[in-house]
Amino acid sequence: MNIRKAVIPAAGFGTRFLPATKAQPKEMLCVLDKPLIQYCVEEAVASGLTHICIITGRGKSAVEDHFDRNPELEALLEEKKKDDLLKEVRRISGLAEICSVRQKEMLGLGHAVLAAADYVGREPFAVLLPDDIYDCPVPCPRQLMDVAEAKNASTLALGRTDAEGTKKYGIIKPRPVADRVYQLLDMIEKPGPERAFSDLAILGRYVFTPEIFDMIRETPPDHRGEIQITDAIRKLVDHQDVYGVEYEGDRYDAGDKIGQLEAILALALKREDYREALLGLLKSHGFFLKE
Ligand code: G1P
Repeated sequence: MNIRKAVIPAAGFGTRFLPATKAQPKEMLCVLDKPLIQYCVEEAVASGLTHICIITGRGKSAVEDHFDRNPELEALLEEKKKDDLLKEVRRISGLAEICSVRQKEMLGLGHAVLAAADYVGREPFAVLLPDDIYDCPVPCPRQLMDVAEAKNASTLALGRTDAEGTKKYGIIKPRPVADRVYQLLDMIEKPGPERAFSDLAILGRYVFTPEIFDMIRETPPDHRGEIQITDAIRKLVDHQDVYGVEYEGDRYDAGDKIGQLEAILALALKREDYREALLGLLKSHGFFLKE
């Protein structure tokens, strides 16, 4: 199995961030010094994925522009001798072979992934959701790709969650097969604590065999009218083994306002160029932290 392509769904309304997302794509919201979508693209590239398809929709052109060349800006930075910024701006547009596909109606995550079917063809591929920021010694998609390649099967990122998490995430029924690796027996999208099979949640990173597209086509919309990727994976399990890997590293759910704040603080505390300044600011506001 040779996995080259990544699909990044970025077509949602971003209602959890309103009013910030009224006229701006959620994926362009900044965490520290870069937009969410850039974390995602960089993670895909660091995993060895060379071809990236971003699923966009109306009002999302800033996402496409972010990865395009900007000759006027480059000329200005060159003239002002801002070499580091110029290098960074050029690096972003050269990160990978990036294209975008428009999802004309927002009918759920499964529907968004299906929009990439022509682009992907009959190859295995990765899906990365920009809400989740991963900071792992081995990039999360790479951790999945290693298992997917060994098993020749779809493989998802899993993490432990609590009762609240069972209302936010897809939850799986696991069969342990190796250290941190599980075969998925079943799964339910956002089941709530009463119906949850386990405390293992599906957390925004997937590697799929191309048969997932056939399953999505057969998946009816749920009670909210959305075609859920979790329902399509549930169907896939009837035809092929599907695995999950408990990822190693840190993950931040920047998909809502408090999660975004947590991601900003946690990443700033890890970074030398922000840490001292942040601790200083917190102290000046009367917070006393252990250092
Ligand atoms: C989506 C998936 C869900 C998964 C979550 C991970 O939900 O449908 O299964 O657990 O991403 O972040 P959403 O956050 O789009 O509601």
